[in-house]
Parts: sequence; C-alpha cells; structure tokens
Amino acid sequence: MSSQTLLERSTAGGAPHRAAVNVASPGCAASVASHRCAVVEHRWVNARYKYLRLAAEAPLARTTRPGQFYQLHCPTDEVHQPFLLRPMSVYGTGPDEGGIEFLYNVTGVGTKALAKLPMGGHMDIVGPLGNTFTFDASFERILVVARGVGLATMAPLVRQAGAAGVGVTALMSARTPGDLMQAEFLRGVPARVHAVYDSDGTSSVEAMEVLLRRLLVEEAPQVVYTCGSHRLLMLLQRVLADYPQIHGEVAMEQRMACGMGVCLSCVRLFDSGGSGHLKQFKRVCREGPVFPVREVVGEVEFG
Ligand SMILES: Cc1cc2nc3c(=O)[nH]c(=O)nc-3n(C[C@H](O)[C@H](O)[C@H](O)COP(=O)(O)OP(=O)(O)OC[C@H]3O[C@@H](n4cnc5c(N)ncnc54)[C@H](O)[C@@H]3O)c2cc1C
Ligand code: FES
Repeated sequence: MSSQTLLERSTAGGAPHRAAVNVASPGCAASVASHRCAVVEHRWVNARYKYLRLAAEAPLARTTRPGQFYQLHCPTDEVHQPFLLRPMSVYGTGPDEGGIEFLYNVTGVGTKALAKLPMGGHMDIVGPLGNTFTFDASFERILVVARGVGLATMAPLVRQAGAAGVGVTALMSARTPGDLMQAEFLRGVPARVHAVYDSDGTSSVEAMEVLLRRLLVEEAPQVVYTCGSHRLLMLLQRVLADYPQIHGEVAMEQRMACGMGVCLSCVRLFDSGGSGHLKQFKRVCREGPVFPVREVVGEVEFG
C-alpha cells in the first residue's frame, strides 16, 4: 500500500483532541482528523430520515468536497452500543466555516443511537475521507440519478453545479411520492426533475431504461452521476455503453470498518482496462468512494 500515515495528537489551547493522518494517495484530502463537534440542529425530515448539523472548530466547510464522507462516532446508550464508526456522506457544509451537515436513514444500531443525540450535545467525527466527483464549471449540463441515501451524497454536487451555473437534470427514484425528498435534494437549485416511483411501477428497470435513454439524448449531459442503488448503477453502466462520449461516475456504498485504507474490509473488484484485462481490487474508502461507472464489476465469481 502506497499510503503514508503520520499520527499526531494535540490538546493545545484547550481544543478537543485531534488525531491527524496525512494521506498521500491521489484524490484524497490532504489532512484527515478527528473533530469534536457540537450538535446545532437535529430533526426528522420524514419518518425514516434525520437531518444533523454539527459545528466543528476546524474549517471543515473549506476542506470538505462533494462525495467525501466522515466516520461518525455514534453515541452509545443502554440498548444501542455501536462498536465501529459509521460512514456517512457529507450532505452539506456551512453556513459557518465549521458547519457540516448529514442526512441519514435511521436503520440499525448506530443510526438509532445517533438519532437520540440531543441538541447541544457533542460527538466525534473523523474526516474528510475519500475522493470527490469529477466536476468542471465549464460543463453545460449534468444528469444526477439518485435513490435513497444517494440523495445525501449527491446534494453537495448539485449545489456545486448550481453555484457554477451548470444545468442540472435530476432523475429521482423512490418507493412513493412521500419518500422522494426532492426539496432536501435540490436545496433551492433549479433543476429539471423526473421522478419515478415503485408504487406506480415507473421505477422498474424497463421503464427507467426508456427514460434514461431519452434524457441522455435530449438533455445531452457531459457527465451522469449516480448513488444509492446497485440496480440503477448496473442499468446506467449498460446504457452508457451506447453513449461513449458521456462520462459516468458512481459514489459506492460499501461496508467499512476503519474508513482509512488500512483494514481492507471495503475492497471491491474494478475493471480499469475496460476489457476485463486490468481487473484489480480497490479500497472504496481510499481510492473511492467515487469511481467511473464503467469500471465497476457488478457480479464477482471466485474459484
Ligand atoms: C461512503 C458511505 C457513505 C454513506 N453515506 C450515507 C448517508 O449519507 N446517509 C445514510 O443514511 N447512510 C449512508 N451510508 C450508509 C451508512 O453508513 C449505514 O446506513 C450505517 O452505517 C448503518 O449503520 P447502523 O449501525 O445503523 O446499521 P447496522 O445494520 O446495525 O450496521 C451494522 C454494521 O454494518 C455497517 N453497515 C450497515 N449498512 C451499511 C451500508 N448501507 N453501507 C455501509 N455500511 C453499512 C455499519 O456501518 C455497521 O458497521 C453511507 C455508507 C458509505 C460506505
Ligand atoms: S474500510 Fe478499512 S480499508 Fe476501507
């Protein structure tokens, strides 16, 4: 492994403890640290998702990029005792330099404990971790294909595009209209939105393929980004084979332990050669979580 790690500990000026790790691999942030944050906003968005805004002393809004994630040290209580840190995409930053936002699905031990974190409480987060989406302000239009937690991961990218004056087309998939979270995804950025639902069958692979092909032609995006659904990823990969001029990127969601490239629990197979000749394992937490759609190997057979 090519990464160099340097651990420093400091309690200077009464500041909370900080362990900084210098990471040298391309695409990664220059400095990863543990930050003790105050909870400044924590509320339900709908029946399953919560919004969390933290305030750190470090200027995380300046150093965090769209697509990156943090490892959250979820609190423990009598019922929930999460051992590992939980990876969570950055949903947004600001308005102050130390402000960092998360949008999370309350699902298991860690996130159920997290959901109980009170306003004014504190928690530790480690990051920023991972790489970022390829983005160029000279793009005319991007297409974002999102479902579930993919909304949280791609929301900063939508904001980046909006601020740069790049057109955004959003293909959003959800179980029902009540699960869509369109306002939470776009956050005021003007976009051409196409919503599909499980409840009326419009999110089926067949229906989405027709819609996707139409959007790729009519909207002519330079890049298509996706996150939140393996089924959508595989569809996008298949469809993009017919549009070689359009770049595709996916933010992968993989089970993680360390989140820093050390334990190898997040490795996945990728095909960097495009023809099956350059298959290699990569760490989603370090070389990713953002990868070219065309490099993802969907099904792996061993032996
Ligand atoms: C890079 C990245 C970014 C993510 N961003 C978001 C986000 O913005 N919002 C959001 O709601 N969720 C996000 N997730 C998924 C989130 O990490 C899991 O939902 C969360 O870890 C579940 O923890 P739990 O203790 O509640 O669930 P449990 O099922 O009790 O967790 C048990 C173990 O499995 C791991 N695990 C469970 N589900 C997942 C999963 N889907 N992905 C990765 N590890 C998992 C947990 O981290 C834990 O170690 C992201 C995952 C990754 C890898
Ligand atoms: S989670 Fe440990 S190497 Fe990626």
